[in-house]
Amino acid sequence: MEHFYFNQSMLGHITNAPKASLSRAIANLDVTSIVSDTGHNRKFDIENIRKVTDVIYASHNKPIKQKVQVFYNFKGGTGKTSLCFQVATHLSLLGFKVLCIDLDPQAHLSSVLGITEDQNCLTAYDILINDAKVSDSLIKIFPGLDLIPSNISLTRVEIPLNAKNRREEKLKNVIDSLRLEYDYIILDTNPTISTLNMNALVASDRINIVCETQPFSLAGLRVLVDELEKFYADMGIIPHYCIIPNKYEIKTATAQEVLGALRAEYGNIVQNTIIRKSEEINIASKKKLPIAAFCKAKSASFEDILDLVHEIVRISRLDF
Ligand SMILES: Nc1ncnc2c1ncn2[C@@H]1O[C@H](COP(=O)(O)OP(=O)(O)O)[C@@H](O)[C@H]1O
Ligand SMILES: [Mg+2]
Repeated sequence: MEHFYFNQSMLGHITNAPKASLSRAIANLDVTSIVSDTGHNRKFDIENIRKVTDVIYASHNKPIKQKVQVFYNFKGGTGKTSLCFQVATHLSLLGFKVLCIDLDPQAHLSSVLGITEDQNCLTAYDILINDAKVSDSLIKIFPGLDLIPSNISLTRVEIPLNAKNRREEKLKNVIDSLRLEYDYIILDTNPTISTLNMNALVASDRINIVCETQPFSLAGLRVLVDELEKFYADMGIIPHYCIIPNKYEIKTATAQEVLGALRAEYGNIVQNTIIRKSEEINIASKKKLPIAAFCKAKSASFEDILDLVHEIVRISRLDF
């Protein structure tokens, strides 16, 4: 990933920390800045950003109950990968230790994280089917962010996976062995109903359903929620899921109606944070950068993504 730097005021924006606690943390910690002049123009690289955010944000408070989170919908193009990318990168900028697992053979998440097909990396296929060691497939993207990448080989996972005993639990076994090493494990899925996706659902503590705010999305969502509830009932699991409304067009009456209908039908399951439609989300994926690395703190995408990340952190620490 391309290098990027934050100044002190950006650290304040991403953590919501009061100026005084931020200055105290920077003074007390062994952080070094890139530009050596003093004052607010000092810039910090990711490693130093994380030293500060770890103390003033990540290490605060209670343990994380919902470490494993999947971004899911069996419809394509709703924004799963975009939000997965933004949430995972910002969680690591906030001082958490994060693992992303790309479970989509199209490998868009791997690609925005800078990993290309020709690097011939080991994927979840090798781990689930060929018993490859997880440590051999882990790629360090930047401090605090690791990736188990994907590539087209994942399209071949279904037949051998289906032949296994307790086939829906294979990924859970792998992920459970990694829980102590990470604060969050974030899964990106492809839009199909497959055994691989069932594995992602069984392995997750929380399912983030990314949903567009268009009328036709509601009917699809109803089917999706029914399917999920049936699946979890069969597996004997009580699911925790939430709906993240994405691509919200603030000025259109239809988007407002859809949001109203979502809230009426699903109540608290709908996250407070709504992600507005904004070109910056597209640009971030093209630039392969977290929103906070290039957007103004007042931009809609910056506000929405940071609100989403803070909400995920808050909920992940609640007792269930
Ligand atoms: N809030 C948003 N505003 C504008 N464009 C968005 C937003 N969220 C996602 N997109 C765009 O929508 C397209 C599909 O998003 P993507 O994350 O690839 O969806 P999925 O992973 O669900 O298939 C991409 O071009 C992405 O940049
Ligand atoms: Mg995707």
